Amino acid sequence: MAAGSLRRVGILTGGGDAPGLNAVIRAVAKSLMTKKDIRVIGIEDGFQGLIENRMRELSWGDVSGILQSGGTILGTSNKANPFENPTLRDGKVVRLDLSEQTLRNIEKWQLDAIVCIGGDGTMTISRRLVERGVPVIGVPKTIDNDLYGTDITFGYDTAVSIGAEAIDRIHTTAQSHHRIMLVEIMGRNAGWLALGAGIAGGADVILIPEIEYELDAICAKVEERSRIGRRFSIIAVSEGAKPRGGEVVVSRIVKDSVEAIRLGGISIKLGNEIEDRLGRETRATVLGHLQRGGSPTAFDRILATRFGVGAADLLVQGKFNQMVALRGDQIVSVPIHEVGGRTRTVPPDSPLLAAAEAVGTCLGIAC
Ligand code: F6P
Repeated sequence: MAAGSLRRVGILTGGGDAPGLNAVIRAVAKSLMTKKDIRVIGIEDGFQGLIENRMRELSWGDVSGILQSGGTILGTSNKANPFENPTLRDGKVVRLDLSEQTLRNIEKWQLDAIVCIGGDGTMTISRRLVERGVPVIGVPKTIDNDLYGTDITFGYDTAVSIGAEAIDRIHTTAQSHHRIMLVEIMGRNAGWLALGAGIAGGADVILIPEIEYELDAICAKVEERSRIGRRFSIIAVSEGAKPRGGEVVVSRIVKDSVEAIRLGGISIKLGNEIEDRLGRETRATVLGHLQRGGSPTAFDRILATRFGVGAADLLVQGKFNQMVALRGDQIVSVPIHEVGGRTRTVPPDSPLLAAAEAVGTCLGIAC
């Protein structure tokens, strides 16, 4: 499509909710409505609404007053996929290709382009839409911060702050009862969230999926602290952490989800092992979805606004099939086909790991 001929833009939020989704919706819609006579169509429940033709035009009023609110005014789904949609048939989940009906719905609503706000799963589906001729702009969201192509995703800063506050609060009981307290932090197979929250909360031990931990090393750290009069220890553990040569702890398999494995429970398992080994009282707290809830931080509001404005700029320029990204302090764009299916994990030379080690934090290996 030629630049300047953009008239109707669809917008959807896919995958798990993250603080800042509404800030992006607002920024995309307000910049498009302000700059040009472009109509913005909200697609309900992620790709599910695109498949089922559930959309509505958004007004200025619809996107006002939502900057600070968590969740998404459009709803989301981490299951819907126009190319392999999980559908219940005779008590069994089968995957149906509903792409033709999805493309017809896009045509019915005369959408010239779609803004897809989401993580890896959303970008992978977006890439397939692009291959079918649908102009798409991606916006990188996830509290896990594991999306390839951008320095940071929106939602991460808020989740780190929630994790850090939880660790602060756990200190109270840990100190009073002289306990070993484990705080389990989300993030799937990337340790960004546990690492960020652990550093910000001053955890004594931080365990992330990228560094397989050794029970001996963790116990040695706890004992060393006791010897110097620190009778409690706080362990920030990523839900995807695993022992050397061992496996992650899976809480359940959600068969009809884009990413079926749900991690969870490592803090309880590891806490029991530490208690058995040291004979010291341990307790585990799984933060779970608290980390995605509530209002985005100011940082996430600013980032989400910049991403939304960046997406609108790309649309107006007619530069499609890109994901907006942050590199340094600049908003840039990366081709969507480069993004999906790749996980950005914490590299061994991460300055965050170096900083944690420099202040005496144990990373689960001889410390
Ligand atoms: O990807 C975001 C995330 O919150 C992960 O950190 C977590 O493992 C997963 O989603 C939980 O998924 P659900 O909301 O489907 O339980």
